[in-house]
Amino acid sequence: MRILDFGSLNYDYVYGVDHVAVAGETISSYNMEVFCGGKGLNQAIAAARAGAEVYMAGLVGEDGQLLMDICKRNGVDSSCIRKVPGISGHAIIQVDKEGQNSILLYGGSNQQMTREYIDDVLGQFGCGDILLIQNEINLLDYIIDKASENGMRIYLNPSPYNEKIKSCDLSKISVLLINEIEGGQISGERDYDKMLDVMQEKYPETDLMLTLGEKGAVYCCRGKRYRQDIYKVKAVDTTAAGDTFTGYFAALMQEKIPVQEVLAMCAGAAAIAVSRKGAANSIPIRDEVNKFCLHK
Ligand code: RIB
Repeated sequence: MRILDFGSLNYDYVYGVDHVAVAGETISSYNMEVFCGGKGLNQAIAAARAGAEVYMAGLVGEDGQLLMDICKRNGVDSSCIRKVPGISGHAIIQVDKEGQNSILLYGGSNQQMTREYIDDVLGQFGCGDILLIQNEINLLDYIIDKASENGMRIYLNPSPYNEKIKSCDLSKISVLLINEIEGGQISGERDYDKMLDVMQEKYPETDLMLTLGEKGAVYCCRGKRYRQDIYKVKAVDTTAAGDTFTGYFAALMQEKIPVQEVLAMCAGAAAIAVSRKGAANSIPIRDEVNKFCLHK
């Protein structure tokens, strides 16, 4: 089973701060590091580190060689990634003492997708393949429609949630991976069981993976709900923890592993990512996750 991750590739400029700056405030940072990130890239690497056969599609700028190289180094096929004129996407990330972050995105090449490029990539995939996609690139609605026509199963993580999601036909999504805030925005509900009720009624063919921060996660599939707690660790940097969960989930669901075990491993992988600095580089390999879960 092949996973095509069609998404963003970013350079993350990460600043260590005492607290995240509020409107009108100027603060100093105590260090700055540059990492490879982007929800697309992070999720592709997570799925590959979980053991799946992963292909990354997306656009980088003239400065994007490192982003292509990190895919290759992690066993992600990068032959669909194209270089375009201009600069790659980037993120300005503040990380506070508790490891919480605030992210400002610049789309750059991630916002230059064309229908021709999308048709070319999707022409190489079809029935039996998985499309994993997020909301950091343009023409998301077109990609969903085309992949669905091709017979691909679509895993959508609609982050960061915005108006663009309203133009996407969510009934074409096989698995929707959302957090509590996105669940509220889509369903209009605050209680998570009610969120799932509303979404299940609206999209009966779609499985729902709802992550709830400190409260863990719930997976809702064909009328059944599976709950998973988080593993408590000291948070160093929460960046890419959600992407780690998502990439692991997309990969492990293709294996014949019981759902509850899949969820435990996703929670373990995310916990390890939280305990490390950076984005793509903080994602653990499968062996680390197995060992971590065994000792919990
Ligand atoms: O989910 C974390 C990611 O969001 C970061 O790597 C950053 O690039 C933004 O896309």
